[in-house]
Amino acid sequence: MPKIAITGKGGVGKTTLASLLAYIYAEQDQRVLAIDADPNANLASALGFPEEVAAQIAPIAEMEELIYERTGAKPGGYGGFFKLNPRVDDIPDRFSAEWRGVRLLVMGTIKGGGTGCVCPESALLKHLVRHLLLQRSELIILDMEAGIEHLGRGTAGAVDAMIVVVEPGQRSLRTAQTISRLAADIGIEEVYVVGNKVRGQADRDFITESLPDLRIIGFLSESPLAIEADRRGVSVFDLDPQMVEEAKAIADGLSNF
Ligand SMILES: Nc1ncnc2c1ncn2[C@@H]1O[C@H](COP(=O)(O)OP(=O)(O)OP(=O)(O)O)[C@@H](O)[C@H]1O
Ligand SMILES: [Mg+2]
Repeated sequence: MPKIAITGKGGVGKTTLASLLAYIYAEQDQRVLAIDADPNANLASALGFPEEVAAQIAPIAEMEELIYERTGAKPGGYGGFFKLNPRVDDIPDRFSAEWRGVRLLVMGTIKGGGTGCVCPESALLKHLVRHLLLQRSELIILDMEAGIEHLGRGTAGAVDAMIVVVEPGQRSLRTAQTISRLAADIGIEEVYVVGNKVRGQADRDFITESLPDLRIIGFLSESPLAIEADRRGVSVFDLDPQMVEEAKAIADGLSNF
């Protein structure tokens, strides 16, 4: 089953695309595991998970006892000794929740230092992502922040496609170029671009012409319904049929590459 990582500059629509793809694949009877790897987690809301379902999800980085039990060190402790190879195989099912065919796991926030820190919670998360990508049989959608620190060498090879979301603007396009270089450095070859919040052909052309070396697999139109969905805490998938169609074209594009 494909493992898809979604990245890009802040606010470009990574989580929106992740939620759309998750439901599209679930509707095609795929078993979908969505992973919220953004420290500022909000994929549950983008998926419109009801509160009682979302409440069953425990962000892994905040499970102090678990981190201590698995790594032998207390979270927040820098240096010192901890296991680099902690047991993680039981974590995905225990701390996630499922809704409408999408199982959601939330990585949570590492205090201080972030995912790059040399601390037990970072070691556990990295190992967990590695396990998920290499051992799980579901279709995986990984909603990441702009940095791709969760993916080390050795793990990156298990990513079948990295989607970099951009919007029609210089900043996100530059971020996309940086990310694609980092991705190539750690061995991810399949990098694709999705242009979001496009208002017409001029925006599509601008994105295409700005990224001549990258493969663009589709566009999502700017839509007031996306904002409305966010405001109401419901999924775009349920609110905006046009975005669903556009995201389906992106899913088709992925399987054709
Ligand atoms: N096609 C679109 N048209 C209009 N608004 C959109 C579109 N896509 C996303 N948005 C809105 O833009 C905002 C950011 O979207 P989203 O949370 O998906 O981005 P993100 O890249 O995951 O952000 P972050 O970096 O904060 O995680 C949200 O309010 C969302 O509703
Ligand atoms: Mg997001």
